[in-house]
Amino acid sequence: MDQPQKAREHWASGFGFVLAAAGSAIGLGNIWKFPYITGENGGGAFVLVYLLCIVVIGLPVMLCEITLGRHTQRSPVGAFKKLSPESSTVAHLIGAGMVMTALFLLVFGRYGWAALAALVGLTVFRYGWVVVGAMGVLAGFTILSFYSVVAGWTVGYVVKAALGQLAFADSSAAGDAFGQFIASPAWAVGCHLVFMALCVLIVYNGVQKGIERWSKILMPLLFLLLVVLIVRAVTLPGAGAGIRFFLSPDFSKLTGEGVLKALGHAFFSLSLGMGAMITYGSYVDKEENIFLASLTVTVLDTLVALMAGLAIFPAVFAMGFQPTQGPGLIFQVLPTVFHRMTWGPFWATLFFLLVVIAALTSGISLLEVVTAYFVDERNWSRKTATVVFGGVIFLLGGLCAVSVSDWQALPGLHRLLLTVFGNVEDSLFDLLDNVASNWLLPLGGMLISIFVGWIWGTRKAIVEIRHGSQNFADVHVISLMAGLKDDESHNSAVHVLTLASLWGIFIRFISPVAVLIAFLHAINWLDFKPRKAPSPPPPSEQQQEAR
Ligand code: TRP
Repeated sequence: MDQPQKAREHWASGFGFVLAAAGSAIGLGNIWKFPYITGENGGGAFVLVYLLCIVVIGLPVMLCEITLGRHTQRSPVGAFKKLSPESSTVAHLIGAGMVMTALFLLVFGRYGWAALAALVGLTVFRYGWVVVGAMGVLAGFTILSFYSVVAGWTVGYVVKAALGQLAFADSSAAGDAFGQFIASPAWAVGCHLVFMALCVLIVYNGVQKGIERWSKILMPLLFLLLVVLIVRAVTLPGAGAGIRFFLSPDFSKLTGEGVLKALGHAFFSLSLGMGAMITYGSYVDKEENIFLASLTVTVLDTLVALMAGLAIFPAVFAMGFQPTQGPGLIFQVLPTVFHRMTWGPFWATLFFLLVVIAALTSGISLLEVVTAYFVDERNWSRKTATVVFGGVIFLLGGLCAVSVSDWQALPGLHRLLLTVFGNVEDSLFDLLDNVASNWLLPLGGMLISIFVGWIWGTRKAIVEIRHGSQNFADVHVISLMAGLKDDESHNSAVHVLTLASLWGIFIRFISPVAVLIAFLHAINWLDFKPRKAPSPPPPSEQQQEAR
């Protein structure tokens, strides 16, 4: 199966890789999505669960993906093809398990989900691990189609800010303007088109020239601007309530769904679970320290998310918004903050422009996964693949853009989804986000860590990581923490706790089990709260039925 490969493009420098990976991770997930789902899920406690997911699951899985990519020098599907055994009992068991789950879902009347689980289960049973790669390509499509819509809103807000049309003094003016903006197909679809076109243009030109150059200059600038914004926000009168909401955990506000969302968002924000980091890893050189790279990307991404929260929540409370506003949160809150600053329109334009660029460096990583599959596995030319799938994603995203303000614009599609899924959340937009972020990504991430930990094997993985990162398997963790890293007596010819062994334990046991627990918790199978009198059904379903 090993065809001779064309010389594979590589990042120009190690620094370039870290920046590109950080560019993929840092995007709308940090600045737009993290604040709004934190607001919807009660604040501090959600943030804490999110951070826990980053450390326990995100970082170990990140290292899995980059290692798989660099070792195989292939895109996800190719990587799994290359490393899968002829026939895998584990894959058979997982496939069978999913079909069983489908049966359960059937009994509970969740027909759409049952069909989905059965389909995935059967394909896993038949095709084995390659399905994980294929699932990633599918997730890439799905995510980019709603991602690009939100990125389009940001493009629109750059234009509006530059024209001085974002000078809102209070929450209701900002809310009305946002509502009108997204309900206008010309703006919503037009801006979505602009963003997709930019993505296609960059990916079309290849990894190094396109992706790497952009990330280098503009990411640091975004960072600085966030600092300015935080200073402005926390000095607004009444900001304290927002800081408290964001940073002090109240666990009574946390739900099973909230836990799953925090987990899903950890994957989303780090660009994990669908092979983006496998793909980016496949362009990395052998001398690179990929452990340090994973750590850096994870820390930077988390930092930017926390900074965005600190910039937004104080303003939410100071300006009289509701934290539960939903996807429009930052588009409504931030203009009112800029309005309070000297040179408001200038700062607003610059900020939304930088967010567009952060979104671009993420969007291209999603498109790159789809493209790399068709280039590596189907022998398409890079140019054709980019243009064709950019177009397909534009069409799917166009439906999202229209449905987000009004389902009635697409009655046929609405009815179809209703029959399949029983209830459809507010829009196609939410549906795609929910399926991809909360289910596909965690599932993908869990399977990737099981694959590396149990099928390919930690032993081989660690040989790969040690290229460029000797210490990973040599240094005793306890000695390292004690500052005895170079002390000969603590180097480990014997078996001790090294970073490598710690990582092995995480990817073999802790991460997969944690994802499983979150899944079971989300479907109310596992209930951690002390049981009270029979609780009423969750309000969301009641509301759905009342409609
Ligand atoms: N991580 C990006 C963000 O936070 C979005 C993203 C880019 C992504 N590539 C991905 C999400 C791959 C999941 C998988 O905005």
